[in-house]
Amino acid sequence: MKIVIAQHKGGVGKTTLAVHIAGVLADNGLDKILLMDCDSQSDSFRFFTKQIPSKSMELKEGMDGVDVLWNYKREKLSNKNRFSEYDHIIVDIDTRVQNALQVITEIEPDIILIPVDKQYLSVEHLPEVLSLIARKRGNN
Ligand SMILES: Nc1ncnc2c1ncn2[C@@H]1O[C@H](COP(=O)(O)OP(=O)(O)OP(=O)(O)O)[C@@H](O)[C@H]1O
Ligand SMILES: [Mg+2]
Repeated sequence: MKIVIAQHKGGVGKTTLAVHIAGVLADNGLDKILLMDCDSQSDSFRFFTKQIPSKSMELKEGMDGVDVLWNYKREKLSNKNRFSEYDHIIVDIDTRVQNALQVITEIEPDIILIPVDKQYLSVEHLPEVLSLIARKRGNN
């Protein structure tokens, strides 16, 4: 399953959700899990590896059962074979709507999760963003 976590407001819990989903999925130890960090802040990458990545497409394998890839340039997402070894791919993206739309278009997720917090900003513009996503997916 491919799960993309996106939100146009910062600090709402995207990374927290992404790392927990990856951790929970890895817990049974059977499936191969990729956590793809598409945020230049590299918070997901640093959470699992305790290291700061030095270059784009840096991969750390077997971090508590999770392979973690820092792909802040959003490279090779539409190449289906590139990540075909994984049973589950969880993608943590930054707040730029254009970046989220690119990732969603190219990786074709099964699920898109959009966390919201108590602040109005996390729901402001949400209808427009959802509409853009729906159009990109050809599903109005
Ligand atoms: N469900 C939650 N309940 C309470 N606090 C939370 C929850 N999820 C995340 N937080 C806290 O909110 C803060 C922001 O979380 P996080 O870094 O996951 O957000 P983010 O959306 O990834 O931020 P950014 O836009 O900077 O990437 C952190 O301090 C985190 O511990
Ligand atoms: Mg984050």
